Amino acid sequence: MNRRFILDCDPGHDDAVALLTAARFLDVIGITTVFGNSNVTNTTRNALALCEAAGLDIAVHPGSDRPIAVDAAVHSAQSIHGQSGLDGAALPPPTRKPHDQDAVNFIIESALQETDLTIIAVAPLTNLARAITRAPQIVNRISEISIMGGSTTFGNVTAAAEFNIFADPEAAAVVFASKIPKRMVGLNVTTTFGIASEHIARLRTSGQLLAQEIAGALDYYLGRQSAHYQRQFAPMHDVCAVIPYSHPSLIEYQDLHVAVECQGTLTRGQTVCDQRGMRRDDSAAPGASSTAVAMTAQGDAIVEVVMDSLLYYP
Ligand code: RIB
Ligand code: CA
Repeated sequence: MNRRFILDCDPGHDDAVALLTAARFLDVIGITTVFGNSNVTNTTRNALALCEAAGLDIAVHPGSDRPIAVDAAVHSAQSIHGQSGLDGAALPPPTRKPHDQDAVNFIIESALQETDLTIIAVAPLTNLARAITRAPQIVNRISEISIMGGSTTFGNVTAAAEFNIFADPEAAAVVFASKIPKRMVGLNVTTTFGIASEHIARLRTSGQLLAQEIAGALDYYLGRQSAHYQRQFAPMHDVCAVIPYSHPSLIEYQDLHVAVECQGTLTRGQTVCDQRGMRRDDSAAPGASSTAVAMTAQGDAIVEVVMDSLLYYP
C-alpha cells in the first residue's frame, strides 16, 4: 500500500488536532492551507508553527485567500478560533517558510505524480475546486477525497449550512459534482462528541511540551464552543476526516447522492443529502454524485485516538 495523503486545512484548533493525528498515523506528503478559520496568512503560519513544534518535516503550501465566486464575501470563523486562528496556543513563531509552490499547483502536480493519493479536506474547498478546474485530468488520478464539511441535518453558520461549505459553496459544488470518489463527514456526526475539560487537564499535566501547548489552545476553543453553542465539549470536527484511514471501524458511512445548494436565500451552502434511498444516478439532483456520508461514529474511541496523538509528540 503506497497510499499517500495531502491535508488541505485552515488551522484552526480542530485542524491542528487533525494535522497531528494524520501525521501520527498516515504518510502525509504535504499540507495545503486556505482561508477559513482565519485569513490564509494566519492559517499558513499556524500550520508551519504546528509542524515545527511537532518536529514534522512536511512542507506547507499556501493556498487561496478568498472563495472562487468573484462577488462572494470572505467569511471567517475567527469568532470561534480567535484573531490568530489558533488563539490560546503558545506555539513559538515558525522559523520555516511556506513552500514556494502554491497549494493548487502542489495538488495538481501530486495528483499527476502519485499512484494512490488521498486528499483530506477540512476547510473551504477552494484549493481543490481551483485544481479540478485548472487541470480536469486530475479527477481520474485522485483515489479519494475525505471532506469534513456539510451535514445531513443542521448547519452551524446558518440553520442549513456548515462553515466549510458556506465559506465557498461554488467550490464545494465543483468538488461534489466531480467524479472523484468522495467521503464526507458532517455536523450530524462531528457534533456528537469532543474534548472536554478533563481531557485538557490530562494534556496539561502530561509533562509533554506540545500537549501542554495544545491544551492552552483547546481550552480557548472549548470556551468559545461553550459560549456560542452552550456545549460542554469541543467538537473534533476535522479529525473525523482522518479517522477512516487510521481507524476505519470508528465511523460508519452510507452511500448517498449529495449536491450543494448555491442559490437558496435560507439554504445557500447546504449539502443536500438524498436519503430517500440510493437512486440511480439519472434520478439524482443536478450536480449530485454518490458520496460516502458519515452517519454514526464511536465518539469516545475517537477522542482516545486524539489523546494518543497529542501525547505522542514530545
Ligand atoms: O464547521 C466545522 C469546520 O469549520 C471545521 O473544519 C472547523 O475547522 C471550521 O473550519
Ligand atoms: Ca477546518
